[in-house]
Amino acid sequence: MSEALHTNTVIDTSTTSLSPILAEDLTRQFEHIGDEVRAAIERVLPGGSYVLGPELVAFEQEYAAFCGTPYAIGVSNGTDALQLALAACGIGAGDEVITVPNTYIATVFAITYQGALPVFVDVLPDTYNMNPDLLEAAITGRTRAIIPVHMYGQPCDMRPIMDIARKHGLRVIEDVAHAHGAYYQGALVGSFGDLGCFSFYPKKTFGALGDAGAIVTSDAELNDRARQLRYMGQKVKHYHEMIGYQKRMDEIQAAILRVKLPYLRGWLARRQQIAARYDELLADLPVIRPYAAPERTHSYYLYTILAPRRDELFAYLARRGIGSQVIYPVLVPDQGAYRDQPLRSSSIPVARSLVGQILSLPIFPELRDDEIERVAAAIRAFYL
Ligand SMILES: Cc1ncc(COP(=O)(O)O)c(C=O)c1O
Repeated sequence: MSEALHTNTVIDTSTTSLSPILAEDLTRQFEHIGDEVRAAIERVLPGGSYVLGPELVAFEQEYAAFCGTPYAIGVSNGTDALQLALAACGIGAGDEVITVPNTYIATVFAITYQGALPVFVDVLPDTYNMNPDLLEAAITGRTRAIIPVHMYGQPCDMRPIMDIARKHGLRVIEDVAHAHGAYYQGALVGSFGDLGCFSFYPKKTFGALGDAGAIVTSDAELNDRARQLRYMGQKVKHYHEMIGYQKRMDEIQAAILRVKLPYLRGWLARRQQIAARYDELLADLPVIRPYAAPERTHSYYLYTILAPRRDELFAYLARRGIGSQVIYPVLVPDQGAYRDQPLRSSSIPVARSLVGQILSLPIFPELRDDEIERVAAAIRAFYL
């Protein structure tokens, strides 16, 4: 099956009279908050300040408070957040950084951009997240950092990851692009590592109307360094003390994110309701539903099942006007971009077994109950 078939653009409405159900649908969110968003943009436009202005300062304070960290740094996107976090930790050529093979390519590109070597460890079969038991075997004298990725909104098992990192003097940079607002042992993910990196890509659980991202940290020194790196290595304008980057967040995006932040808890609660309903409706079918890991609150950026005959189910749903997604169809070490790029991967049988079975069903806060039922009924009809 081609990669293009795994997007929600292939819904075939010609075979059904029912209205399509997209895997993600932002138009409904805009119907609810469009007036507030327009007002926020109107607030910014006459101000004459369009990058690193007062909206960003206010958003950084509000997002830090939301995450329970002293600092948040608004940046241009999630990929840049990861690269800046690595740079702030001083990671570069000759260093090794451990992550997982089933993540989005950006996690690994950020390591490569810094000239460091990506090292892959396998994931757990229940959470699809980094297996902490495999970390020590992957650590060498060159290892400098670990990037756990909270896949689909399921928090990683942060306690053993942090223990191993501290024992070996390694930095931990959490990739929280999928898991805004998810809890592990009573605290929000992103707040456990040295730095947490968020994407606010529009379709994320918490998204801007364009590209944006953030880094959170509790470390004052890392906060200073990340801020300086974000804007050309300067603390005082035109005095560049280090090689920095141009990776700032736009003022308009900050203003839009400020409109959305007060809604986030409610949106997360609705995602949890939808997931619980799918759990009920799919319980007796031959699919594996997302695992309810102890001491964790899944944020359900995606509701990802393991489905026998996945590609057939995907096409069957599309013919019934239902969008689903395969996130991600190719493991990073198998991507063409890494054919000639250095990386190190131990054996990754679990990630390999998952990649042909994962399927993410429609989930977004405005998804209606009748639509959830229609998705589940279509899956039931497929397996009967
Ligand atoms: C796991 C993960 N990491 C990093 C990123 C990069 O974020 P952005 O698209 O904002 O650069 C994404 C975004 O899709 C992601 O899913």
